Amino acid sequence: MQAAEIRKAFLEFFQGKEHLLMPSSPLIPAGDPTLMLTSAGMVQFKPYFTGEMTPPHPRLTSVQKCFRVSDIDEVGDTTHLTFFEMLGNFSVGDYFKSEAIQWGWEFVTQYMKLPPERLWATVYLDDDEAHALWVQTGIPAERIRRFGAEDNYWGPAGNEGPCGPCSEIHYNFGGTCRLNKPDAECGPNCECGRFLELWNLVFMPFYQDIEGNRTPLPNPNIDTGMGLERAAMILQGAGSLYETDLFKPIIQRVAELAGKAYGQDEETDVAIRVVAEHARSAAFLIADGVVPDNKGRGYVLRRLIRRAIRYGRKLGLGDSLSTSSGRTEQDFTARGSTGSPRTVLSQVAEVVIEHMGDAYPELASGREFVLRVLQLEEERCLTAFTRGLRLITGFFEGRLTIQESLRRVEDNLQYPDFSTIEYALHFLNPFVGVIVSMRGTPPAEPSEDEVRGRRLASKIVIDRFPFQEYDVLEAQEQSIQLAKIRPRLANTSRTLDRLRTQFHGEVAFILHDT
Ligand code: SER
Repeated sequence: MQAAEIRKAFLEFFQGKEHLLMPSSPLIPAGDPTLMLTSAGMVQFKPYFTGEMTPPHPRLTSVQKCFRVSDIDEVGDTTHLTFFEMLGNFSVGDYFKSEAIQWGWEFVTQYMKLPPERLWATVYLDDDEAHALWVQTGIPAERIRRFGAEDNYWGPAGNEGPCGPCSEIHYNFGGTCRLNKPDAECGPNCECGRFLELWNLVFMPFYQDIEGNRTPLPNPNIDTGMGLERAAMILQGAGSLYETDLFKPIIQRVAELAGKAYGQDEETDVAIRVVAEHARSAAFLIADGVVPDNKGRGYVLRRLIRRAIRYGRKLGLGDSLSTSSGRTEQDFTARGSTGSPRTVLSQVAEVVIEHMGDAYPELASGREFVLRVLQLEEERCLTAFTRGLRLITGFFEGRLTIQESLRRVEDNLQYPDFSTIEYALHFLNPFVGVIVSMRGTPPAEPSEDEVRGRRLASKIVIDRFPFQEYDVLEAQEQSIQLAKIRPRLANTSRTLDRLRTQFHGEVAFILHDT
């Protein structure tokens, strides 16, 4: 089944069970200050579950666009996504566990036609009712596992909201445990990756407030969610989410732009997946009105774009771009209608729009806007990225020079005893001398940012090192007794080690801030 067929089959199945079809809500949750982005199918239905609003129908079904910020840094492996589609059926105080489990089983076995022996269930610790219901559907007790709150209690989405114990359907890809655990220990949630959580059925009787207190909702509800990408992966026998029809054309475009083949080299594949996934997510966020910003959802978008650029560079995409020296033809593989060179992500997003614009018309109607926002942001990020790299290069170069002189200082510290100011100056001078000369002698043909990086390195050392420039000058002029500065020697060795090994907060801050 192609993804479009799975969506259609799911929605028709639940409409056949008297569910009202609801469109996906936007990724920006309406009137919900507890959430930055829509993270689950139930988000748009929260006011129905809490009783604040009356639902148009007590049974609802949808395919919801979801975004999970928490997974950004995992994307690149074969299982994590930031953006995904969630198929769901919902009961607002209508049916409960029995129907949810029965229909879930019916859909996966009769419509998705998954072999029942491949299916496992999980239930919350003491949920004997759910356990018994799974046994009734035909899953033998040995394929039903109990888990605690971490795996089998869901919600709230955001700081507060509806929540409850849940029960999941997992798919077993077969074979033996890839971590060589005995059969009794391998099963759903085993890290070996043999099992994939397919569908989460949440039995939702509580409201959890900001302090974590739970109170009963007006009625117990059902909220289920099945990841479309995962369903497609299983049904299409794909090795990963990225080999489904949802991702194949996007992966192919990234590979084409990079002039590389997917599936040949793991490091290349990771980078291709990151660019493909982030371009897709970014296109959906922008189509829903998120624009790059330094805070909130706009910052999530900016992070996605930057991360995609960083991995794109590993593929040689946009490698030599430098807006200070002018963009080069090489950086891009095509030119846009305005004549400006097309950026990588806007070209990848074009495929996303082409392939998903039917299911999500906002992509098709927002095409120009999505591509323009991506183009501008990518240009802006590339400039910042290039400047940041130069700054950091300058910083490391500067620090290396300083480390050399610190080694000399340290050698001098080995002397067991010294009592004259001349001796102190003997070991302080080379150190200060290097700093002073570094500040005055920029590297050959340095960029402004490299010089800044070098200055930063010397500033950090001067700020941290117990012997500052003025100590020496003062000592020379006033013949200060060495005894006065000796107590500060105690920490010198440790300071030297820190200067060698730490990445400094100041540098991180400047990179982040600019
Ligand atoms: N809200 C649950 C989830 O996101 C089920 O839809 O997993």
